Amino acid sequence: MKGIVLAGGSGTRLRPLTGALSKHLLPVYDKPMLYYPLSVLMLAGVRDILMITTPEHAGMFRGLLGDGTQLGMRLEYTTQAEPNGIAEALLIGADFTGDDQVALVLGDNLFHGPRFTKILDDSISELDGCALFGYRVTDPQRYAVGEIDVAGRLRSLEEKPAHPRSDLAITGLYMYDNDVVGIAKNLAPSARGELEITDVNRAYLAQGRARLTELGRGFAWLDMGTHESLLHAGQYVQLLEQRQGVRIACVEEVALNRGFITPEQCRRLGAGMPGTYGAYVEEIAARHLSASAA
Ligand code: G1P
Repeated sequence: MKGIVLAGGSGTRLRPLTGALSKHLLPVYDKPMLYYPLSVLMLAGVRDILMITTPEHAGMFRGLLGDGTQLGMRLEYTTQAEPNGIAEALLIGADFTGDDQVALVLGDNLFHGPRFTKILDDSISELDGCALFGYRVTDPQRYAVGEIDVAGRLRSLEEKPAHPRSDLAITGLYMYDNDVVGIAKNLAPSARGELEITDVNRAYLAQGRARLTELGRGFAWLDMGTHESLLHAGQYVQLLEQRQGVRIACVEEVALNRGFITPEQCRRLGAGMPGTYGAYVEEIAARHLSASAA
């Protein structure tokens, strides 16, 4: 499976924070926003990832993570010239995806919760068509909204409905089989002039091949696209990290746990980063080394 992180868009709702910086590189407590969606794809075991950025910020993204070798990954970069919609990412990434399945994640979505790796692994091994992830919210009209029947099957999907049929938001993580490229090629722009990801998902729904997994209570799904939600995400990360002594979305740790890098490679990454984050990465590596020696 290939991965795409969509980190385009001008981040107008976050002005003036985004006057000079990409929204997706803004700090969310101790790491850039991008680390949160990137680590989701890594948790899913995806090592080949295309980052789609705005043309003006492309260099900064490359400067942050390079070609990904240090994380045992292959990262490529390309740009979305205009904010033409989320589904355009599938067209921009069509050559990169090739004949593979693809997971697309939005660059401002944070996912954190119990057994997430298992949820991702199961979704990939059972993928037939598209896999969507739902989350109950108090403000569904801000998102795509799904309606499910008593058996838990998806019945309808609507993008930002004024009168939502349910409180089940469709999160910004999507997994698709290779048909998605053909589906995206046939899309027409919506009334707001965008290629809508919800139209892609609807095409799968019409074929009876859209599956929805609900991320239940105790799970955190946060978007980080407004001043308030950005701060809330940072506060959530800080609270959990300080309480439990873990780091959320530490890409070095995920790379180690997923076997992309060895404990020794992880130790060196930590040693190269002064400060508490680097110390954590070193500590994780040391724990792995002593566990494997025992
Ligand atoms: C986008 C999608 C929407 C989805 C949401 C998740 O909305 O259009 O379907 O529910 O991301 O974050 P946007 O953030 O562009 O308003």
